[in-house]
Amino acid sequence: MGFRQLVEEPGPVGARQGKPGLRGALIGYGTIAEGHLTGISRTDGLEITAVVDVSPARRAAARRELPGVRVLAELDELSVGELDFIDLCTPPHAHLDGIRFGLRHDLAVLCEKPLLLDRRELEALELAEKASRGFLFPCHNYRFAPSVIAMKAALEGCGAADGDFRGHFRTLRTSHARGTADWRPDWRRERSVGGGGILRDHGPHSVYLAAHLVGSRPDRVRCDLRRPEGGPYADTEEYAFLSLSFASGAVVDFELDWTAAGRQTSYLVSGSWGHVRLIDDDLEQCVDGTARRSRLPSDFNDPRHGNWFKGVFEEFLAEVSEGGRSARLREDAAVTIRVIEAAYRSAALGGRWIDV
Ligand SMILES: NC(=O)c1ccc[n+]([C@@H]2O[C@H](COP(=O)([O-])OP(=O)(O)OC[C@H]3O[C@@H](n4cnc5c(N)ncnc54)[C@H](O)[C@@H]3O)[C@@H](O)[C@H]2O)c1
Repeated sequence: MGFRQLVEEPGPVGARQGKPGLRGALIGYGTIAEGHLTGISRTDGLEITAVVDVSPARRAAARRELPGVRVLAELDELSVGELDFIDLCTPPHAHLDGIRFGLRHDLAVLCEKPLLLDRRELEALELAEKASRGFLFPCHNYRFAPSVIAMKAALEGCGAADGDFRGHFRTLRTSHARGTADWRPDWRRERSVGGGGILRDHGPHSVYLAAHLVGSRPDRVRCDLRRPEGGPYADTEEYAFLSLSFASGAVVDFELDWTAAGRQTSYLVSGSWGHVRLIDDDLEQCVDGTARRSRLPSDFNDPRHGNWFKGVFEEFLAEVSEGGRSARLREDAAVTIRVIEAAYRSAALGGRWIDV
């Protein structure tokens, strides 16, 4: 049964008596795939029936850890007629091919960030979408961190929503994250695999979160980048400073750093109304003179972000029940790709403002 046969029947998908839930294949069985599996296991109406991975060691791990699931080396070996969706957890260099494969077979396609690398890939996506009855669903999981949900609610209750919004977001890490030891653990420093350095890797989360918290999409960007002066990673940036500007007047700066002294994720938003500041699990707000602090365990330091994926998959099911027609997230992801491409251009032009 394909994706369309399920959604074209009335009633919520996965909740109909006597009907199976949606069946999917996980593509790339590495670090983040484990977070996706946690989310899927906590979401009614979804199951993984196949795994595809190019690494023999990862396929062996999948056979051990996921009994009953078909484990394959190539996308082409999938029995697509038995699937409703594929979930792409491969590194960035393989996203476009995976997306095209899923759309060619009219499947729903979930995909990790960075969805795609540039405008040319976006154009290829548009062509694939036109010819498909499936749809693309980008996984924007940081929006589901409990402390980010609380921050969004705090910002909605004050003047920030009207553009009185100045943001400073910091993603501090002591090095790049390493992927599974069974494949190419340092792929984030290989331009041909990761498509860049920290801007490509962490930039998407910061851009879509900024748009989410501001409530609109950015229209201009400027950026400074720093690469190591020598050594094996000299062609991938390890520090990025970006400013995004929005039509509403909001401005969000962010720093992404793989050379920080310690690990921390923080989002500060201020305006004439006061400020809201999130540091990992701690949310502090002072709005119109009233201060409040709360602690919301949010697992920012869990590289699999297992607890955030239930929200992602529930959102995916909601999208399925609308037949994949609400393109909101897909548009957010497209703007994110354009912002990051423009940021690289800005850095190459000495930090000039670039229209997105
Ligand atoms: N949303 C988040 O919070 C988050 C966190 C970490 C990683 N990610 C993203 O998830 C993706 C994977 O990152 P990771 O950290 O899990 O990497 P990883 O190296 O741990 O795992 C990648 C897996 O994909 C497999 N693979 C590589 N090329 C393949 C191909 N062409 N076909 C099938 N399998 C292939 C590898 O063998 C490996 O098992 C990246 O796009 C990354 O940016 C997102």
